[in-house]
Amino acid sequence: MKVLVTGGTGYIGSHVCVELIQAGHDVVVIDDFSNSKPEVLDYIKELTGKEVKFYEFNVLDKEKTEKVFQENELDSIIHCAAFKAVGESMKKPIEYYTNNLMSTLVIADLMKKYGVNNIVFSSSATVYGDPEIVPLTENCKLGETTNPYGSTKAMMERILTDVQRAVPTMSVTLLRYFNPIGAHESGLLGEDPKGIPNNLMPYIMKVATRELECLGVFGDDYDTPDGTGVRDYIHVVDLAKGHVLAIEKYATPGVHICNLGTGKGYSVLDIVKAFQQVNGVEIPYVIKERRPGDIATCYADPTRAKEELGWVAEKGIEEMCRDSWNFAKKHMK
Ligand code: UFG
Repeated sequence: MKVLVTGGTGYIGSHVCVELIQAGHDVVVIDDFSNSKPEVLDYIKELTGKEVKFYEFNVLDKEKTEKVFQENELDSIIHCAAFKAVGESMKKPIEYYTNNLMSTLVIADLMKKYGVNNIVFSSSATVYGDPEIVPLTENCKLGETTNPYGSTKAMMERILTDVQRAVPTMSVTLLRYFNPIGAHESGLLGEDPKGIPNNLMPYIMKVATRELECLGVFGDDYDTPDGTGVRDYIHVVDLAKGHVLAIEKYATPGVHICNLGTGKGYSVLDIVKAFQQVNGVEIPYVIKERRPGDIATCYADPTRAKEELGWVAEKGIEEMCRDSWNFAKKHMK
């Protein structure tokens, strides 16, 4: 298949490109490098022996995006391009709504115009809000989102669902990611956020390289075994493999919703301990106040992914910690 990956040089997108190429697909990428680097394209080539067809601009530029649809006979889209920092989204809601919603509308409109029938959308467990029960199945109620970033994900899901209803030949797949961490085992691809990281693993990586002094653990009085927040961490390569299966197996018309998580929850301190143990690096930490908007526990029921996609997360917490550190040592100093 010929697959357009928007945001294809980003953290998730770059791993998706590698897995797509390795599964025999042709890959076209649009990215404006707003949160990634051009070297990623070289790394994808190094890992796969193949080049992606690359276009540098923001998908919001409809004329340029339309040219990509004209120049390539696309079979599927994997739509990863979006702003994704929770904290930043509170300060820049207009930018978040404009970028994330408008780019989705541009893609949906061009899919309709050019008869491209399949889209896989990078959604997030954030759409479930504060869960009433865990593990979360796809049938769980959608919850209140607590920040503009999360709201854009919920709205993008809604937009694509409505578009599918209006264009019944379309296949819309909403992949709800839990907490992607880790990096490609080569150490070439991974997550290298600009500035002070918002997310746990990038922060731990920067403490491990000694760029940052100490991890702040946001609250130790949650109703969890050790009082710190529990999440379902998933290796980014497993996540990427889920996308390849999704474009191959969810090609039938309809809206397909699928969680991508491991089904296991780890606390913040579990992750700190695992990282220290696997990598032999000390991670100093202090307990801080709870972070506004955080929830106690969130993990997936991954049964549907297994039944419908034949997908099961293969990499455990040790590999996630090892690969994150391997990437950090090479790229984050
Ligand atoms: N945490 C810390 N210290 C930090 C950063 C995080 O203790 O410096 C804790 C958080 O309080 C939470 C856990 O580590 O308990 C995970 O936090 P992350 O910020 O890594 O991830 P979140 O679960 O808050 O959010 C992530 C993504 C969102 C996505 C959401 C879906 O960042 O994009 O998962 O559940 F929407």
